[in-house]
Amino acid sequence: MPVTPEHRYDQLRLRQWLDGRARADGVARRDLFRLLGASAALSALPTALQSALPGAAAPAHAAAGIRKPLPPEWFTVRGTNAETKFDALAGTGYHTPNERFFVRNHTSTPALDPADWTLTVWGSGLRGDPAVFGLDDLRALPTVTRSAVVECAGNGRSLFASQQGQSVSGTAWTLGAIGAARWRGVRLADVLRRAGIRRDAVDVMPRGLDAEYVTPDGASLGRVRRPLPVAKALDDVVLAYEMNGEALPPDHGSPVRVVVPSWVGIASVKWVGDVEVSAEPLYSPWNTAFYRLWGPTHPAEGSPPLTRQTLKTAIELPWNASLPAGERHRVTGRSWSGAGGVVRVETSVDGGHHWRSARLLDPPRRAGWVRWHADWRPAVPGPAVLLARATDTTGRTQPLSTAHNTQGYLFDAVVRHPVTVT
Ligand code: MTE
Repeated sequence: MPVTPEHRYDQLRLRQWLDGRARADGVARRDLFRLLGASAALSALPTALQSALPGAAAPAHAAAGIRKPLPPEWFTVRGTNAETKFDALAGTGYHTPNERFFVRNHTSTPALDPADWTLTVWGSGLRGDPAVFGLDDLRALPTVTRSAVVECAGNGRSLFASQQGQSVSGTAWTLGAIGAARWRGVRLADVLRRAGIRRDAVDVMPRGLDAEYVTPDGASLGRVRRPLPVAKALDDVVLAYEMNGEALPPDHGSPVRVVVPSWVGIASVKWVGDVEVSAEPLYSPWNTAFYRLWGPTHPAEGSPPLTRQTLKTAIELPWNASLPAGERHRVTGRSWSGAGGVVRVETSVDGGHHWRSARLLDPPRRAGWVRWHADWRPAVPGPAVLLARATDTTGRTQPLSTAHNTQGYLFDAVVRHPVTVT
């Protein structure tokens, strides 16, 4: 496993924690020792933690706590979450309509009144006292509109089992834990500068106003929060109050959410109520116990915290869709990469022996996806498998399998999409 800059950065911070120079409120000490490689149980998560995975033990039959309607032709309900059916995106355009956008809730959508809402920016990384902003204060700042996907780090997780025969813990998403939107709001950087961020600030931790997340064992991990390195926080992060031209809907973070382009969805904290700016590194359960890679091909102490998303492709057809033989079918799909735009998509109908280029309908976009189509005239009735793979601006192409990790994050392998030719 190559030592990446992220790995070095992470190790530096963990050493700072050991020296008493980083804060880890609400994080079990054994989790931090495990990341340092000092624990005996290195290769797998303790059972208690596995069952503590957000969404792991949620009942499969109800989306308790989601406000918007979840028609079954658009959504599959998974515990407290709702996955968009990928075929429900066919013909919807580049941006995902708000009413079809997936929802990932650790608990439930809170009822917040925008008129009472405030954002408090505080901490040792500020020059002075906490700064408080209301919605009108944010609206008075220069606006920014950014198109970006939000995607769960575990999107595609169920494919570890269905395609690679490997067991993983967490919500069993297929490929629909993603949506693209036009986010309008203000730059987090502008708010941090107005609040008086100091040059020695290192971490910025937004926290949601939704209820504390309580594990199935009854342990409260506190409210959803995850530190961002100051370099990312000052780069392209948005505090969004609009989504696709409408006020942010309740399920997507109303009145204001964080949008962290190209990064795993957990970074994009919804219903943000405060942002801690810290001159010492910060930890939360969402960058220690969760959102790192553990598994045989990952460092024994776990990978650095996940940042950028990976490379994926999904076809806008239901699983086992019926396609009549002898007719020309326009197969449509979308591909995306956290490392840069997608420059090529290829499809195969013979198990990967031959690949044909699909027609791309969008230019490569950082933090976005491309829509594509490819025509196929199946000759012989019977079961068939469609493959599609993307290549991004870094030259990386989707592999045939993804290295296993116990929590099933960042699945990037070519998906074998079954169809039936009739
Ligand atoms: N923020 C808060 N406060 N609470 C949450 O449960 N879920 C996170 C993130 N922000 C979450 C949150 C996760 S894991 C993802 S993938 C995205 O929100 C999902 O955003 P969406 O529900 O708008 O699609």
